[in-house]
Amino acid sequence: MARSLTEITDFSADEIKEIMRMAGEMKTGQSAPRPLDGKAAALIFAKPSLRTRVSFEVGVGQLGGSGLYITDDEVGLGKRESIADVAEVLSRYVDLIMIRTFEHDHVVQLAKYASVPVINGLTDLVHPCQVLCDYFTIIEHRPKLERPKVAYLGDGNNMANSWLNLAARIPLELRIGTASTTQPSDQILNKAKANGDSEILVTDDPKEAILGADVVYTDVWASMGQKNESEIKSEILEKYQVNSSLLAGANPDCLVMHCLPAERGREITDEVMDGPHSIVFDQAENRLHGQKAIMVFLLTSS
Ligand code: CP
Ligand code: NVA
Repeated sequence: MARSLTEITDFSADEIKEIMRMAGEMKTGQSAPRPLDGKAAALIFAKPSLRTRVSFEVGVGQLGGSGLYITDDEVGLGKRESIADVAEVLSRYVDLIMIRTFEHDHVVQLAKYASVPVINGLTDLVHPCQVLCDYFTIIEHRPKLERPKVAYLGDGNNMANSWLNLAARIPLELRIGTASTTQPSDQILNKAKANGDSEILVTDDPKEAILGADVVYTDVWASMGQKNESEIKSEILEKYQVNSSLLAGANPDCLVMHCLPAERGREITDEVMDGPHSIVFDQAENRLHGQKAIMVFLLTSS
């Protein structure tokens, strides 16, 4: 079985630090590895994407390979044929698989049966590439912060779970501001709390969550596959909107982050998203550099 990235906790703290170092070298051009020269990567999508699709396709190309965009409508993972059979077949053609889908367990199964690295490009449970690349963006903007204070405001979704997974490995003061009905995964929360170097708080008080934060993070209130919950989530999560008034409670030098796509006017106002604290487009760019580092790390440690 090759090394895969199903969630951030598949990596140790030292491995995450190494991936951050590699991403920095790739971004500056100091390092330009081509481990996929003449090879291919399968990029499977069961949900829409702009950033993940384009950054992986471009990244695979820059590593010397070709990326094959495949929709799950064609593959029918676990429906048209078994996940184990798909894994076996793809492993005969390609050197890496990236998949975005609904059920997290499908990615775990694919990684179990494939003989090439499998990378989770988002599931209902987690979005590990996003938060690893976001961590790189925080280091880039605030290299001296030893234990960043991160306030995550909004839905306790795959992004909140991924921040908890990062806190399970890297020292963070992570405060999640969310409602009682939109909590992150208990299991993932407990793993994060087990890391004595991090301090974790889940609160329904957005002002408590944001107080003194170095990083203010938000995401859509209704994720892909749950857009029918948009209106109800908007009612529940209204007070967690990242707007100028709430932001006044954060560190005056804070960074505002959003994985995008944003629903402007819901979880974040235009004023904040386009304001001086916002680094959302640096985040989007760094998906490319960070994921190249993840791919090279997996391909060379497999
Ligand atoms: N942030 C992110 O993963 O964006 P896409 O859904 O456009 O890939
Ligand atoms: N929580 C969002 C993240 C999008 C990148 C979703 O799953 O739709």
